[in-house]
Amino acid sequence: MGRLRSPFLFSVTLIGKDIHKAANLLQKGFVVGIPTETVYGLAANALNEDAVVSVFEIKKRPFFDPLIIHVGSWEEALRYVKNVPPVLEQLALQCMPGPLTLLLEKKANIPDLVTSGSEKVAVRIPSHPMTRSLLSLLDFPLAAPSANPFGYISPTTAKHVEDQLGREIPYILDGGPSEVGLESTIIGMENDELTIFRKGGLEVETIGRLAGQKVAVKEHSNSQPLAPGMLTSHYAPKIPFVCLEFANDWESIKASDRIAYLRFTGYFPGAPQKNHKILSVSGDLHEEARNIVSGMHTVDELDIDLIYAEKLPETGLGLAINDRMKRASAKS
Ligand code: TXA
Ligand code: MG
Repeated sequence: MGRLRSPFLFSVTLIGKDIHKAANLLQKGFVVGIPTETVYGLAANALNEDAVVSVFEIKKRPFFDPLIIHVGSWEEALRYVKNVPPVLEQLALQCMPGPLTLLLEKKANIPDLVTSGSEKVAVRIPSHPMTRSLLSLLDFPLAAPSANPFGYISPTTAKHVEDQLGREIPYILDGGPSEVGLESTIIGMENDELTIFRKGGLEVETIGRLAGQKVAVKEHSNSQPLAPGMLTSHYAPKIPFVCLEFANDWESIKASDRIAYLRFTGYFPGAPQKNHKILSVSGDLHEEARNIVSGMHTVDELDIDLIYAEKLPETGLGLAINDRMKRASAKS
């Protein structure tokens, strides 16, 4: 089969709800935007290396940054992984489908390209009904990173995908706004210890409680990134972004119509209302998580010079939300 690689510019990308059309394109080796409950993915047949190459190219992602595979069920996952540690199997059975990704030893049927040469593959079972129906039509797993150009904010609507990558792909499956709004939590074993490699939509505390053991959390670093998703600067808006660490930092900043304010509950005194994105009026963490990524998109579209964002208490989903904001700040 010929390689369907980018630059493969599609003049009109179609957004729609036709899972058969999506399945057909994927079977032919094309790349399709898919909804998940966390963020939208840029999906291709994980067993077709040419299709996987297209994903890297469209996303401008370095080949050393591996992709997550998406499957419909745990039975299906077991076709591609082996020697699953009991605690990870237990978490799989309790938390999947859901915003969790497991790092597991891969079988030979998963191309090295997908895992960037690693012996481990990242596996996820999304809970989004449309993508579950799509997966049930396919006899291969979908390799899918978040559907944004490398380093930029993840998309949580079909429109975000269209705006960022629309000309490069033939179809985007529209499943509405992502319910969780934060990428999956990535977990695996390191030195026999349950370890979180990326904080995400499933809380660290929940994982610890379900697993009944201590969970180590890997912090990101620029000098020794375990995976590029762990680079300090990642998930970044185009406009300079500053996350204010402490509540009293707000006392030293100015109100200006050239600044946007990403706030959790209230407006910043004196600043125009239109320059605000309030993440949850009632202070609900799930609502804030759902809105943080789309909030970054919203303020990134404004005609302004700077974004100030507010930090949350370091607990529950607050950990993952703060993590995204710290990394969005790192570039500025
Ligand atoms: O919620 C999600 O996980 C979304 C949706 C689309 O499923 N996907 C997502 O994929 O966020 P991506 O590629 O944007 O981020 C996955 C992260 C990357 O930082 C990658 O380096 C890491 O997972 N990763 C993937 N496979 C890995 C592996 N075999 N070993 C270590 N890290 C891995
Ligand atoms: Mg990503």
